[in-house]
Amino acid sequence: MASSLACLPFFLLLLPCLLLAQNTGNIEVGDSITAVDNGAQPWLSPSGDFAFGFRQLEKRELYLLAIWYNKIPDKTIVWYANGDNPAPARSKLELTADRGLVLTSPQGTEIWKSDVNLGDAENGFMNDTGNLILSNSASEILWQSFDHPTDTLLPGQTLKRLSPGQTLESGGQMLSSRLTETNFSRGRFQFRLIPDGNAVLNTNNLPTGFAYEAYFWSNTVDSNTSNAGLRVVFDDSGYLYVLRASGKRELLTTGTVASAAENYHRVTLNFDGVLVQYTRPRNSTGNGGNWSIIRSMPDNICTDLVGQKGTGPCGFNGICQLSRDRRPTCSCPQRFSLLDPNDDYGGCRPDFYAQFCEDVSNSPKDFDFLELENTDWPTSDYEMYTPYNIEECQKACSEDCFCNVIVFKEGTCWKKKLPLSNGRLDEKVNGKAFIKIRKDDSTRRETPSGPLPFPYEKKNKDNLALVVSVLLGGSVLVNLVLSFYSFFFSHNKSKRIPQGTERGAESNLRCFSYKELFIATDGFKEVVGRGSFGIVYKGLLEMGTKVPVAVKKLDKIFEEGEKEFRTEVKVIGQTHHKNLVQLVGFCAEGQHRLLVYEFLSNGTLANFLFKEAKLGWSQRTQIAFGIARGLAYLHEECSSQIIHCDIKPQNILLDDHYDAKIADFGLAKLLLLDQSQTFTAARGTKGYVAPEWFRNMPVTVKADVYSFGVLLLEIICGRKCVDTEVSAERAILTDWAYDCYQDGIISALVENDEEAVNDMKKLERFVKVAIWCIQEDPTLRPTIKMAILMLEDFVQVAAPPCPCPFTSVVG
Ligand SMILES: *[C@@H]1O[C@H](CO)[C@@H](O)[C@H](O)[C@H]1NC(C)=O
Ligand SMILES: *[C@@H]1O[C@H](CO)[C@@H](O)[C@H](O)[C@H]1NC(C)=O
Ligand SMILES: *[C@@H]1O[C@H](CO)[C@@H](O)[C@H](O)[C@H]1NC(C)=O
Ligand SMILES: *[C@@H]1O[C@H](CO)[C@@H](O)[C@H](O)[C@H]1NC(C)=O
Ligand SMILES: *[C@@H]1O[C@H](CO)[C@@H](O)[C@H](O)[C@H]1NC(C)=O
Repeated sequence: MASSLACLPFFLLLLPCLLLAQNTGNIEVGDSITAVDNGAQPWLSPSGDFAFGFRQLEKRELYLLAIWYNKIPDKTIVWYANGDNPAPARSKLELTADRGLVLTSPQGTEIWKSDVNLGDAENGFMNDTGNLILSNSASEILWQSFDHPTDTLLPGQTLKRLSPGQTLESGGQMLSSRLTETNFSRGRFQFRLIPDGNAVLNTNNLPTGFAYEAYFWSNTVDSNTSNAGLRVVFDDSGYLYVLRASGKRELLTTGTVASAAENYHRVTLNFDGVLVQYTRPRNSTGNGGNWSIIRSMPDNICTDLVGQKGTGPCGFNGICQLSRDRRPTCSCPQRFSLLDPNDDYGGCRPDFYAQFCEDVSNSPKDFDFLELENTDWPTSDYEMYTPYNIEECQKACSEDCFCNVIVFKEGTCWKKKLPLSNGRLDEKVNGKAFIKIRKDDSTRRETPSGPLPFPYEKKNKDNLALVVSVLLGGSVLVNLVLSFYSFFFSHNKSKRIPQGTERGAESNLRCFSYKELFIATDGFKEVVGRGSFGIVYKGLLEMGTKVPVAVKKLDKIFEEGEKEFRTEVKVIGQTHHKNLVQLVGFCAEGQHRLLVYEFLSNGTLANFLFKEAKLGWSQRTQIAFGIARGLAYLHEECSSQIIHCDIKPQNILLDDHYDAKIADFGLAKLLLLDQSQTFTAARGTKGYVAPEWFRNMPVTVKADVYSFGVLLLEIICGRKCVDTEVSAERAILTDWAYDCYQDGIISALVENDEEAVNDMKKLERFVKVAIWCIQEDPTLRPTIKMAILMLEDFVQVAAPPCPCPFTSVVG
């Protein structure tokens, strides 16, 4: 979803010609489309409401063959062919006569096909109902997407009753959830009409699809079979019901449904197991529209789902809490952390070694209990005592080396073993859970030895989450962990030899004469930027071919000798990182000091953030990551640490792919070799400058982290950090952002940016990280590496405190 939105402007440009060229809905034998970046033109239904084609997945090199609402900004997907088997780039979909639609990889492997068994296909048609239909020359339907539902029903679509033993594989019709919001592989939940006539929601065992107990029933069974449920129907007017064999309708939709002529309707089995009927005005094509909920089933998945087998909505050991939209939110108990830090619904594992009777010398006195209010895991018990009080219950557990958790409720005590399933936090529980931990903490798992995983690689992230899961416990621990991390990273630094740093570091810089650069820039004619240290000109250098460069003429008068200049320039020249603007050479002749950089045609981030075409949310987040990585390199990986001192959007350049590159690093040191405090006020740029500059405090890399935090907010919100043209309470971005965060209205920060609003988790994470970065107290700020881990969601982000606890802000 997000990925295709990134190319929205481009797509909109294409739209008019698509409408002209392709809007008949017809697909002929031999027609094909190819999965390519941005360019794949989907087949549209006659009205343009639905499109059929390729959607780029979050893993950008993979594509999903799908049908989606094409007129609404979120381009909600309603059907997909190859969720379990995403297609690589340049895969091709073709309509063939004998095999229907065939999706093949560039290597020629068949990825998916819509079998047509009844004869040759003549014609394909993307209907305005969202149904993709293949028919023969006699207009008989050979195959239609409505017969092969994925996770969504559209008006006009039905589910047949399963025959005994029938599964998805053997052609049974059912809704099957995706694995996660963005991973379309088969998920853990199903909506089926089972042979006894009941429409049910149930979990299933993933590898086999074996269905576990149901957690929702339509109650349409009847011992008189001619009265039991026969079909699930989502009718043309948007009512969902179970049709009994007798012809009677048992409505699942509650209330009245708005007209289908003016509204879209869909029923989707969400990845978290909640079946939701949604509606949305057809004409709200702008940013304002959204899907509103008509009915969610079940009423409370956290408490309704109690399987003897399977994990529950939140995975093993997880705790489910219903949010206002009746969808589950998952968390881990204290001292547990997410098994997969990127998957809130994937379950939790203990950060300690739970007791398993491995050591009989343990004494009951060694144990303590963590209390969890209104929490229960209703299954997984192996003993029950009643009547009992809490003390007796705890004593029984601490004396029992098999016992890991107890639940106590109204005089009854249950002993439980790991893993726990179907965890819930709900007032209805009316009881308490206690997790057994060791008093001396001796079994808390240590950091794995050896270097920590490089944050740019997603490998081994579990270990990280393990350590940092203590963050969950409370924000007091944050600093401890943060400093632990900073220590670890800096400690580790000396051992790591970053790519490209040592290699060829000495020699790559070219020394130019002033005359050469004068000619290359045509007499310093074309100004492309004005930085804090001088003017930047465009130039063309003869290096085999003409290579464009940016030549920065430093405006400071240099008392320092050429030697010091060369030393510093060499340090800058030794940095090689894809998120840093590469220094190509320099000139130090007489009083002239010039630096020659690679030329980036897209200019500065400031142009895109505050002017011109706006960048999409996913592009903006990519840029934020780029900047953070560039900074991490400067702070922790290059041979001598570089504090940038002037991070701001004017110093971030964008390359052809809109990847961020940091400019002007190393200049602060170069130009202010006398690091006296008197200079500090002159450094940096107002609005981005960390408070310590004004406070006679030592300036460290954390000053850059502060500026990064401000910049991150600008990137999130697409506005300047100080904007006098908006209302007073919004004028100072850092204050306003914290206010919005505090008031729980983060979406106000990205008004009209539907893509960002739809990515609320990431948005919230980014805002929280930004607020951590702009903490007034530098020690509270994370290192940039830690910020990356948090942005990447490797590490849980605790709730940040107010960035300005003191009122003594210097103007
Ligand atoms: C498209 O759907 C409508 C409504 O269900 C149906 O009447 C029509 O026949 C379909 N078109 C084709 C070409 O099948
Ligand atoms: C979806 O999740 C499955 C199981 O974790 C994984 O194997 C697959 O690679 C994921 N697909 C994508 C496109 O990320
Ligand atoms: C079963 O239901 C049908 C339709 O409602 C009814 O006509 C028939 O009499 C019922 N049979 C029995 C045995 O109750
Ligand atoms: C959409 O349609 C509804 C009902 O026809 C109408 O009240 C509303 O003003 C329309 N909205 C827009 C944005 O056109
Ligand atoms: C979605 O639409 C409903 C009904 O119009 C509205 O109450 C709600 O605030 C909207 N939500 C968002 C996030 O725009």
